[in-house]
Amino acid sequence: MNGNEHLHADTGATSEMFVERSLNEIRFWSRIMKEHSLFLRLGFRAEDTQLIQEANQFYRIFERIEQTAHSLSNQTDPEQIKKFNSEVKQSATGIFVFKRKVLGLILSCQLPGANNFPLLVDHISREANYFRKRLIELNEGKLKPLPEAIIKENVFFLRIMADHAKFIGHLLDPSERKLIDIAQNFSNDFDQLMYQAIDIESMKPQSQTVPLLDQFLDQNRVSVASLRDFKKTARDLIEQCKIKSIIHPLLADHVFREADRFLEIIDMFDAHLTSSNNQSS
Ligand SMILES: [Fe+2]
Ligand SMILES: [Fe+2]
Repeated sequence: MNGNEHLHADTGATSEMFVERSLNEIRFWSRIMKEHSLFLRLGFRAEDTQLIQEANQFYRIFERIEQTAHSLSNQTDPEQIKKFNSEVKQSATGIFVFKRKVLGLILSCQLPGANNFPLLVDHISREANYFRKRLIELNEGKLKPLPEAIIKENVFFLRIMADHAKFIGHLLDPSERKLIDIAQNFSNDFDQLMYQAIDIESMKPQSQTVPLLDQFLDQNRVSVASLRDFKKTARDLIEQCKIKSIIHPLLADHVFREADRFLEIIDMFDAHLTSSNNQSS
């Protein structure tokens, strides 16, 4: 497979891979969507009963999807998975629309005193949209060529990581000066990495060389690994009630899992890039 071909070769294993990839994405992201529903609910005011109800409804929907995804196996009929993917896509679209509606309410000052930052609501809507698009891609069997996928996924996830650092920095108690400082440094680091990724994207297709992409992945991996470790430490400290913050322990774990997911994606890309390089040389 060379860099211009699809990430997944068109072999007999394709349908098995389709089932496996679909279940992997749904298991990961349905839990994430379920937790977003909880975070949204926690941020609403007591009188926002309608919004609370809507959030609870999405919680139950994604809880059910998560359970179903775990009850299916890699041996499940691909046609059944295809149907399941498109049902899940409907729900992902539903929660995306809900999140954008909430963002609109916050930005037009209709929820004074509610506790979710606009950037957080925008962020979780971007994650819902990412999930939606993954499901569409899987069902259409149209996977992006490897170099393009590498650049796009990194632009997306680097911004997600930069946001996380900002959320942590802003949800820590102002008296946690040291930790806020660390979070701020991560925020700057990831803003910079994101702009580097955008630059590489703008230099496409000339920038899509194996050495450049390889270095791009290696550089990003170092920062993501260190952010992931910081999140893990923060999560443990929050769970042990050792730091002052308004960060829900589940939110700390949630952002840790998302960083871990990004690392897995980087490693997967790196493995494909290396094997395509070896085969063509
Ligand atoms: Fe999330
Ligand atoms: Fe996130």
